[in-house]
Amino acid sequence: MKPILEIKNLSVDFKVNDKALRAVDDLSMTIYRGDIVGIIGESGSGKSTLASGILKTVRAPGKVSQGEIIYHTPDGEKVDLLKLSSKEYAKYRWTNITTVFQAAQNVLNPSLKIKEHFLETAWAHDNSLSDAEIMEKAKELMKSVRLEERVLESYPHQLSGGMKQRTIIALSLLLEPDLLILDEPTTALDVITQWYIIDILRKIHDKTNITMIFLTHDVSIIGSVVNRLAVMYAGQLVEYGDVESLFFDPTHPYTYGLMHAIPSLRDDMSKRRAIPGYPPNMLNLPHMCRFTPRCPIAQAGKCEGIKEKTDVMYNSKDSQFTRCYSWEKVKEL
Ligand SMILES: Nc1ncnc2c1ncn2[C@@H]1O[C@H](COP(=O)(O)OP(=O)(O)OP(=O)(O)O)[C@@H](O)[C@H]1O
Ligand SMILES: [Mg+2]
Repeated sequence: MKPILEIKNLSVDFKVNDKALRAVDDLSMTIYRGDIVGIIGESGSGKSTLASGILKTVRAPGKVSQGEIIYHTPDGEKVDLLKLSSKEYAKYRWTNITTVFQAAQNVLNPSLKIKEHFLETAWAHDNSLSDAEIMEKAKELMKSVRLEERVLESYPHQLSGGMKQRTIIALSLLLEPDLLILDEPTTALDVITQWYIIDILRKIHDKTNITMIFLTHDVSIIGSVVNRLAVMYAGQLVEYGDVESLFFDPTHPYTYGLMHAIPSLRDDMSKRRAIPGYPPNMLNLPHMCRFTPRCPIAQAGKCEGIKEKTDVMYNSKDSQFTRCYSWEKVKEL
């Protein structure tokens, strides 16, 4: 397994009413080439902020206050993305690292035909392709997202939301990046279209082995496509490991709660339980483990939720890490 992205001690802060809000708190994780990693967490847990940290698009009042993000290029070079200037980063954007996000549909220029988006993207980043070659690739990519070639002649307003989202996925793959970051890529779409797009992405991965990072609050949609799963809670990474292990043998009570809250058409809905309570106020964090107020282990009197013990992560199983120091008690839930 070769790493593609090593995130080391990343923190991103916002200033809100003169108070510091640490949206991503000392997050470390390694993503391997060819992985499909899901990053899940409730609204406000810091997923999009993490994505903007990797993409170097954190804007004031936000700021990366510490950390390194080491990108391993296909040639084996190591680049700390955070040390690059915007101009230097631009060399990697689209050609190596690219993104599709929830509101992506708005990035299509209403006055340009879809094919012109492909041409302009290629012209802006790669002068080596002739226009005929670009169009050849565009056609092939449209096919891979199951859109007809004629869509290239359309304007964005002539497409449905799902078609626009698939167009953007095709566009993001034009320059053959090796890392694709998808922030809630399907959330605005109906469930059938969500599954359809996930299936398309899975096929693209089978064909190209592109590394993907999916950020979403909806684990039921991505569970079938990711091989690794990371769970965020109140700005912290709380668990990370193989998806099956996190589903069936979680070692953090929050992951346990999420897995038991997934609705499924097939099983007994009455057994599904939402996690009671809410995430903490990020401007006023409790001086204890951040999950304590909602934690079933703490409520059973089996853990004191000592903050200092949650400042590090524990290797609970083979390549599985948890922030819960009482992780052995998750089995008793
Ligand atoms: N521009 C900003 N200014 C101030 N605070 C911000 C800003 N952007 C994000 N935050 C704060 O950072 C925290 C993390 O937000 P983020 O958007 O990363 O969450 P998320 O996990 O992507 O949520 P969602 O599922 O709703 O997309 C939140 O507490 C949010 O209020
Ligand atoms: Mg978000």
